[in-house]
Amino acid sequence: MARTDTDVLVVGGGIIGLAVAWRTAQRGLAVTVVDPHPGGGAAQVAAGMLAPVTELQYGEEPLLHLGMASNARYADFAAELTALTGVDTGYRRTGTLAVALDADDREELRELHAFHQRLGLDSHWLTGRECRKLEPMLAPGVRGGLHVKDDHQVDGRRLARALVAACERTGVRLLAAEAAELLADGGRAAGVRLADGGAVHAAQVVLAAGSRSHLLPGLPDGLLPAIRPVKGQVLRLRIPELYAPFLSRNVRAVVRGQHIYLVPRADGELVIGATSEEQGYDTQVTAGGVYELLRDAHELVPGITELPLVETNAGLRPGSPDNAPLLGPTALPGLAAATGHYRNGVLLTPATGDLLADYLATGTVPDLAAAFSPDRFSKALA
Ligand code: GLY
Repeated sequence: MARTDTDVLVVGGGIIGLAVAWRTAQRGLAVTVVDPHPGGGAAQVAAGMLAPVTELQYGEEPLLHLGMASNARYADFAAELTALTGVDTGYRRTGTLAVALDADDREELRELHAFHQRLGLDSHWLTGRECRKLEPMLAPGVRGGLHVKDDHQVDGRRLARALVAACERTGVRLLAAEAAELLADGGRAAGVRLADGGAVHAAQVVLAAGSRSHLLPGLPDGLLPAIRPVKGQVLRLRIPELYAPFLSRNVRAVVRGQHIYLVPRADGELVIGATSEEQGYDTQVTAGGVYELLRDAHELVPGITELPLVETNAGLRPGSPDNAPLLGPTALPGLAAATGHYRNGVLLTPATGDLLADYLATGTVPDLAAAFSPDRFSKALA
């Protein structure tokens, strides 16, 4: 029988791994997280838009269902974290305005609105004038838009801090170490060997290492698909009190085929995102990326050029082959996955924590996770 140091070992201490660890520890299991920098990862860069409706893509209704379920849990999730840790997550019920800058954009948004209506989603068409009444800083040329009252925001950095503290208070062991190899014993996952030569043995292992999840040595061939890194460059500006409230809600548009969004935080930060670049594990900020973001954001809200630019950075979205997450047991007994959240990692954090904890505590995959089984890829490979 394999030695066991912990009931559940989570490989990856970004917000997804931490939420899984926290919720699982609340179910009475002993949990260890292995990550060189617990609380790091893509949430340190993400704007934190909670946008299941305004980011809806055609053909992704199961993901919409999961995203809506996670969004509906956010207020309680954030309140519970704050009550436990004293950390304000920056969860803000602002709603989102998605606007069109020209006639083609307007046509596209109209189609999206019709799609929303067919699905019974709360999404209202506004004229350009009505959009500007809600957000006076919008460009005069805005042709119309969609007001989605339930697409909100959270601050990914505060959220990560709160989750680290919640894990600590719930008895999760946070090991600042790198997992170097998956260990298996008798045909099941049994833990990991660490880069410093040590090992952690566990009854169940959860892979939550974002776009590096499939790279862990020791994983059986074909068990997991490649989780591709999709780089997003993001800008942080500061709104001086003189200009507040600069924007009152998330504002977004598609400009020249690229998503651009502005997320105004209560503390005066304005986050502008994001590029979408598929070029490997590169997180360098480029002049071209910053230029495009500023150019597109300026078309949307010309007044941004007055604001101090205080930070630029880039993160990697973990994209699965169908852009939907991998949630639950893999074909290797003892190994589960919580990865591949692509553009929706922050949004899907509460649901992922709950679903994986349910599975780890009971051995049964919750209905809401069934469509996201990691097996959907290994079967295709068989
Ligand atoms: N959800 C926003 C992004 O991935 O850029």
